[in-house]
Amino acid sequence: MKVFEKIKDIQPYLAALKAEGKSIGFVPTMGALHDGHLQLVKTSVSKNDITVVSIFVNPIQFNNPEDLAKYPRTLEADVDKLAGAGCDIVFSPSENEMYPEPDNTGMEFGGLEKVMEGRFRPGHFRGVGIVVKRLFEITTPDRAYFGEKDYQQLAIIKYMVKNLSIPVEIIPCPIVREADGLAMSSRNMRLTPEHRAMAPEIYKALLRAKENYSWFIPSGLEKLVTTEIEQNPGLKVEYATVADSVTLQPFEDWMDTEHAVLCVAVFAGNVRLIDNIILY
Ligand code: PAF
Repeated sequence: MKVFEKIKDIQPYLAALKAEGKSIGFVPTMGALHDGHLQLVKTSVSKNDITVVSIFVNPIQFNNPEDLAKYPRTLEADVDKLAGAGCDIVFSPSENEMYPEPDNTGMEFGGLEKVMEGRFRPGHFRGVGIVVKRLFEITTPDRAYFGEKDYQQLAIIKYMVKNLSIPVEIIPCPIVREADGLAMSSRNMRLTPEHRAMAPEIYKALLRAKENYSWFIPSGLEKLVTTEIEQNPGLKVEYATVADSVTLQPFEDWMDTEHAVLCVAVFAGNVRLIDNIILY
């Protein structure tokens, strides 16, 4: 496995592989890798000649400086895990390498960025859009792999790729969960033992919501999920939103859409977790 830090080194290396006709699969990450990431990597390895993984904690997608400062950075362990998962190339640039100058590019995603995460994390998706577009330009992948845990991010990346005609196939991959149902996330390692013990209640509430949604109107289901999660002292719901799973827009009646998703953001202590479930 090769590790690159400079754009000027990785670009010709990948160009030569492409010239040989090799297909490139790409998994963008911010490091602190867990089995969810490794699943994306393994899927890419099974479908592409070459798998590239980027590790870059992207400062411009953090709206909260404390969250950025506390984001786990575990490069050495990440590189070992990637070698074990069959990754071929790691791209681990510095901040200066990615942003030699401040990037003022505007980014909009047809309104997808305005709901849910967008309401609580101003500028977050602009930062994600800028970095993912740049990483695509650097790594020129045929396919790129994104987890469904970041449901809204995935919708936004699909929109961006279509809107800007970026020649990459976006492959959504299912959420990977711990044995007790907690969605895998790099943030989980920051949970106190007490909050870690109650965090699986989030997914349990989502499962109950899926089972019983038809008894409620969408806004009623949102309230129910919020109440159920907040029954656990230490869990605080930032939002519980039922949305059309394609447009991400809210609706009033189950008859209004053919496909619905329920997304939540929950503080477990001071760690913000997100999760979601497709209702139908
Ligand atoms: O999902 C993430 O880890 C990040 O948002 C991504 C896609 C690597 C961009 O920084």
